[in-house]
Amino acid sequence: MNSAYCSVAIDGPAGAGKSTIAKAAAARFGFIYVDTGAIYRTVGLAAQRAGIDRAEAEAVTALLPELSIRMDYGPDGTQRMFLNGEDVSAAIRQPEISMYASAVSAVPAVRAFLLDMQRDMAKTSSVVMDGRDIGTVVLPDAGLKIFLTASAEARAKRRLAELLQKGEDCTLQQVMDDMLQRDAQDANRAAAPLRAAEDAVLADTTDFTLEESIEYVCGLIRERFDLEEK
Ligand code: DC
Repeated sequence: MNSAYCSVAIDGPAGAGKSTIAKAAAARFGFIYVDTGAIYRTVGLAAQRAGIDRAEAEAVTALLPELSIRMDYGPDGTQRMFLNGEDVSAAIRQPEISMYASAVSAVPAVRAFLLDMQRDMAKTSSVVMDGRDIGTVVLPDAGLKIFLTASAEARAKRRLAELLQKGEDCTLQQVMDDMLQRDAQDANRAAAPLRAAEDAVLADTTDFTLEESIEYVCGLIRERFDLEEK
């Protein structure tokens, strides 16, 4: 906590509510919200468009020099992702890109390629950053680390509700299968696997409403940094 800026690292499995909670908490304290999954999704989209098989680590690595990935914030504060100048913020949310993102994120060269971009954000602003390795690798000195989880059933139900709202056609079983496969892949990879930092606060939101989860995380931020909400 030597920097002039506060860093909050939120890690956890898919569907734990990280992005919604992190975004709301960041807004309340005037911090920038950084969704690092969106950055991996952008590489995943590039791999899919290049026709690369998800498992081909070498082909993914060879693609990296051709990629220009940029992150920006719209007037409403929403994070936008650009791939070689194109706004791909909507395209990276297609369900099949989740699995691509998970596959490319296991490639060490991809993680190295994206590391500075994530760290630089925390050098120039107070941030709430969410992902899988924020507390362990990206911001090991973050002033507050939270590992957010919930039961697989609760996570799958939340993810299903989101997808149905977007008009996607899928079942609870499909969502659960995809989510568990992605979690296993993210947790079992050699490079920066999904895991809680030793000094992370563990938060299980299975029985919390969204509002209660946001309140809980804001309470941790208030206490840790001795801050009031804006
Ligand atoms: O948070 P998300 O579901 O949008 O992330 C998509 C994938 O990106 C996830 O399955 C694993 C990868 N990821 C990662 O490896 N490290 C991060 N810090 C964030 C995401």
